[in-house]
Amino acid sequence: MTATQPSSVTAPGAHAPHLRPQAHFTARDTWLNDPNGLVFHDGVWHLFFQNNPSGSTWGNISWGHAVSRDLVSWTELPVAIAATSEEMVFSGSAVVDAHNTSGLAGAGETALVAVYTSSYTAHSERPGIQAQSLAYSVDDGATWHRYAGNPVLDIGSGEFRDPKVFWHGGDDGRWIMVAVEATEHRVAIYSSPNLVDWSLESRFGPAHATGGVWECPDLFPLRVRGTDEEKWVLVVSLNPGGIAGGSGTQYFVGDFDGTAFTPDRVVEDGGIEDYDWLDHGPDYYAGVSFSGAPGGRRVTIAWASNWAYANSTPTEPWRSAMSLARSLDLVRCADGRLRVAQSPVLPSPDDLPDGVLVHRLVVPTRPGERSEIALTAGDPASAERVQIVLDGSSRTLTCDRTAGGDTGFHADFPGSFQAPLQGAQLTDLTIVVDGCVVEVYADGGLATVTMLVFPSAPLTEVSLEGAHADR
Ligand code: FRU
Repeated sequence: MTATQPSSVTAPGAHAPHLRPQAHFTARDTWLNDPNGLVFHDGVWHLFFQNNPSGSTWGNISWGHAVSRDLVSWTELPVAIAATSEEMVFSGSAVVDAHNTSGLAGAGETALVAVYTSSYTAHSERPGIQAQSLAYSVDDGATWHRYAGNPVLDIGSGEFRDPKVFWHGGDDGRWIMVAVEATEHRVAIYSSPNLVDWSLESRFGPAHATGGVWECPDLFPLRVRGTDEEKWVLVVSLNPGGIAGGSGTQYFVGDFDGTAFTPDRVVEDGGIEDYDWLDHGPDYYAGVSFSGAPGGRRVTIAWASNWAYANSTPTEPWRSAMSLARSLDLVRCADGRLRVAQSPVLPSPDDLPDGVLVHRLVVPTRPGERSEIALTAGDPASAERVQIVLDGSSRTLTCDRTAGGDTGFHADFPGSFQAPLQGAQLTDLTIVVDGCVVEVYADGGLATVTMLVFPSAPLTEVSLEGAHADR
């Protein structure tokens, strides 16, 4: 998070309803940033989120709350954990404490426990400190209570945040927390028998991209596709210093033994293009996974914005959207490297919400072949377009929003963003256009680019120059 910026004066018409996405969650009429407390419980996906309940820029940070049964259509509920004069409620996670290890559930109850960062204000007894705290619900997430013994983990730091908690090790297991020591570019790993008492196990970092503070870590296992091999993925957001400028989300593949994370691959003195990124676009940040997703699935949601300009994007009174939910998979690529592949969670084409367009194409990407795809509003008199280029010679996917509509609200907004391609012959593409969010998935989701666009009319048309086959 960076200092807030005043919201800018925006172009006439910029607040048009067509900019509000339908399959990407937005708060009704307020600000949001990171997804928090992602947890599946009793058939319901809970999405909590960093929210200013009384404004459309960052501030007064509380946990908003929304629920869904299909990860596409969301219902916003009342604020779950509200800021007080003493603490803002920064990012964190939630778990179902099925065995009541915390003792917070009464007889016959199950506690949902949120582990969040208390960002203590000047009016508190710990001014400037960030420490980890608990809140719990014994009515399936409807109402939340702060734990009386908060904070549960305070190391006296002003840069210690974003706890992600999971159960590790079966019946004899324990809780594991990853949290960042943000300015030291480290992920600290703690363990606990009960979510209340925490012991430091190890630290990871600095490693790979360190051009900004580390934020919002996640650590989870994934099976390598087509094998029984299990690996662990450590996700670390950083701001600035991301691959597309400003905020970005990198990941490491390796092993976790219950105590420490060891990456398979550490590039010494590399450039940021040598590292692994969950998304190569500018608007994919603070992505974390659901706790308790059924069927062993690993499903993530990220914030579809960038701290460089998030407070100035031209929508009011709501501001910012989440990404689509994505299912994750781990793939051994032709070069021997394990990479995360992502696919968007979408309903069947007939059940897509109005205004959401999904284009699926296969494009040849042999050396010398180049295809250009344009997303437009179909008005020949308008020069507005989002351009997507696949280049077989440089083996890249480039997404360009410089002519995509309103770009003038912040100097850092216009740009074009590049991702490497793995496929040698053909590249499959899924392009999701939904209000102000465009998500592009290439190569079976090995490369993704997520970006905001603010066109003056909905981008209903897609045209392609160059050879291709429809899927
Ligand atoms: C990431 C972040 C977190 C912090 C939260 C505050 O975008 O800066 O590190 O907990 O946002 O809203």
